Amino acid sequence: MPETPITPSVRQRRVEADLVRTVLASFDNTPDPRLRELTQALVRHVHAFIREVRLTEGEWQQAIDFLTATGHITTDRRQEFVLLSDVLGASMQTINVNNEAYADATEATVFGPFFVEKSPEIPRGGDLAGGAPGEPCWVEGTVTDTDGNPVSGARLEVWEADADGFYDVQYDDDRTAGRAHLFTDEDGTFAFWGLTPVPYPIPHDGPVGALLAKTGRSPMRASHLHFLATAPGLRTLVTHIFVEGDQLLGSDAVFGVKESLVKRFEPQPPGIPAPDGRDLDGRTWSRARFDIVLAPEAVTATGADHG
Ligand code: BEZ
Ligand code: FE
Repeated sequence: MPETPITPSVRQRRVEADLVRTVLASFDNTPDPRLRELTQALVRHVHAFIREVRLTEGEWQQAIDFLTATGHITTDRRQEFVLLSDVLGASMQTINVNNEAYADATEATVFGPFFVEKSPEIPRGGDLAGGAPGEPCWVEGTVTDTDGNPVSGARLEVWEADADGFYDVQYDDDRTAGRAHLFTDEDGTFAFWGLTPVPYPIPHDGPVGALLAKTGRSPMRASHLHFLATAPGLRTLVTHIFVEGDQLLGSDAVFGVKESLVKRFEPQPPGIPAPDGRDLDGRTWSRARFDIVLAPEAVTATGADHG
């Protein structure tokens, strides 16, 4: 049935606009100018939304119930509000706003909830799997600045889900697996063993999962390997690499995929010798290359346009 557009009367529109003005004015004396800007913009946008969709009181109550459930399921180990931000694309948009393209610097993407401080350190060629099940994957690359200079001693934090689609922190046994940190060599190169990334669902047994189900959206993330790269004087990079050919590249639940981050994970049949001579015991493995370019630290969202 075609929906009848509701056009409020002039009098009604005046009542609504008056309220927006009154609420905006209530924040006029906020001493912190940034807080004033944020609260007033929020009021403008929330009121515009309510007026645009002609929000019913029942829908308002449903929204309150949804946010209440989101709060109730949130704990130290589960952040449902971040998940909500992720599936609305708000996390990715905040990253876009704060990581403006600079020369050929590597693009950033979502952080996700599964990063852990104090991961084990591995040497060049070390294995981050820590016993996690999955197909071995040799990952190598360089870290350079945007002038092409190698960055030695850059710290790379790397983390990923196991072959069952779970991060170590999703198990109840305090294991550490599928994560590590390492440092680039003098010449800016790095290499390590990880696991060939697999697709997995974001936690979807809570209100955010229910929202995805009701809207016909999938909770699946495209296969990826997380990186956090830091080096003095250079902009911290939070990113992933994605697997070329993955069916989910176009429908990632948190909108994290960027074309430049899609890499070839070359399948290696059993019997192909590993680059470091590792005995793979007849197993298949894969290899991928990721050359990371870090922007200068001083570049901000309002920085110069470098093309
Ligand atoms: C992740 O990639 O680990 C992730 C990102 C956003 C929400 C859930 C998981
Ligand atoms: Fe992830």
